[in-house]
Amino acid sequence: MGSFTRLTGIALLALLAGPVDAQELAEEQVNLVSSRLAESARRSWEIGTRAQAILEHNATRYSVFANNDLPPPSNIPGDQQGPLEPLWNIARGVLSGGAGGNTAQPLVSDSAVSDPASIGVAVLLANYTNLDKKDDQYEHAARNQYDYLMSNAVPKNGQGAISHKTEQIQLWSDAVYMVPPFLAYYGVITNDRTPLDQAYEQIKQYRAQLYDSNAGAWKHIVGGNSGTDDSFWATGNAWAAAGMLRVYATIDKSKFSGKMKSQKKDIKNWVQEIHKGVYERYFDGENLLRNHLNDPNTFYDAASSALLASTVYRASTVMGQHKYVPYAERTRMTLFTPNTGPWTNTNWTRFGDYQYFTTDGWLRPVVDPMNTGNQGQNSPEAQAFVVLLHSAWRDWRWAGEKGKNAAGRIAASYSTVLVSALSIAVGSLLL
Ligand SMILES: *[C@@H]1O[C@H](CO)[C@@H](O)[C@H](O)[C@H]1NC(C)=O
Ligand SMILES: *[C@@H]1O[C@H](CO)[C@@H](O)[C@H](O)[C@H]1NC(C)=O
Ligand SMILES: *[C@@H]1O[C@H](CO)[C@@H](O)[C@H](O)[C@H]1NC(C)=O
Repeated sequence: MGSFTRLTGIALLALLAGPVDAQELAEEQVNLVSSRLAESARRSWEIGTRAQAILEHNATRYSVFANNDLPPPSNIPGDQQGPLEPLWNIARGVLSGGAGGNTAQPLVSDSAVSDPASIGVAVLLANYTNLDKKDDQYEHAARNQYDYLMSNAVPKNGQGAISHKTEQIQLWSDAVYMVPPFLAYYGVITNDRTPLDQAYEQIKQYRAQLYDSNAGAWKHIVGGNSGTDDSFWATGNAWAAAGMLRVYATIDKSKFSGKMKSQKKDIKNWVQEIHKGVYERYFDGENLLRNHLNDPNTFYDAASSALLASTVYRASTVMGQHKYVPYAERTRMTLFTPNTGPWTNTNWTRFGDYQYFTTDGWLRPVVDPMNTGNQGQNSPEAQAFVVLLHSAWRDWRWAGEKGKNAAGRIAASYSTVLVSALSIAVGSLLL
């Protein structure tokens, strides 16, 4: 009788947990992750990446991944006003820093050329929707950032690739997420094809220097005389793929799409080549990426794993490329399943017992963004990557979970493991 009650209890628990699937985070948990992101994002690219997380998570009508033409409505629909508020606070912060004047300059001052541009989409939207009726201050700020990138104050290589650094010509894979998405969106908002072409051209030139076809992956940092990094940094590959997907979606939803077919095709191939290289060569039973993809002595990094998985779901929904969905599913289920197995999370406002999250919602283990060879602690960008993964997966789910059948085959063996873990848990309860 005793064991019967316990069994019934377990069955009831499973039923109660019904609304939240086995391996997905509850919205409250994603919000907790977002709180850690909001309170920790201070550096330019962290703020820019948070802005993108806000768009993809909440202000979805204003994300380039929305299923609508660009530009978005300049009159903000009622249901988007609340979700956009944190984005507007980011834009307001830029103006209060003095970026709305008449000189070509980055949105915020920074030792890197490219990182401030990551905040550019927030400022372009502030201008476009006439935020706070600031006359043309947001327009100035956006144009100043654009003019600065194009100016001689910014070093460029012989092919025009914009340096990530101010003092030497150096290309970082990270920059593909910071600059080209801003340029492309600038073209959409100002109704001008040139910046969209420039976004494509920057990606092309970055890839020419950073992609290593023997390794099937991007190097982290090339050029200049100090601080180069030949490693195949996992996060750098994910930044590159994620930046390219944003540019692809921006072109695709714009009125210039029909005239930019070959550019779209190239970008699609370049995203696929990263997915192919990383998942077919550097992905093992751990379901996470090594911090340096090809180096078995480096740690498994949950941050890059999350961002790259998010790009697989985006590639499925915007590029019709489903081949690597099974790999993304493996990463997502690994990160988002409680230690006690599926259906066991009973407190959806926190992370009671998760291998890859602290109780208050920090992703672990993660690379130190300031020292990319090392493991770090609380990483703002990693928090954003979790939000981006959740949002990309959610949109993929709404779009019909394409590629999931292929996922079923791989996931089957995985759920067997989980089911046995669960029966062990049940068994020990019955003892
Ligand atoms: C999305 O909105 C929820 C509810 O207001 C909030 O808790 C969460 O932080 C937001 N997400 C992001 C990425 O800011
Ligand atoms: C600012 O927004 C207006 C529309 O309100 C648009 O015509 C203009 O091109 C935009 N400028 C920039 C630099 O974003
Ligand atoms: C869930 O966790 C939060 C934070 O620790 C706690 O305040 C709350 O009481 C818990 N809720 C339940 C139902 O256990």
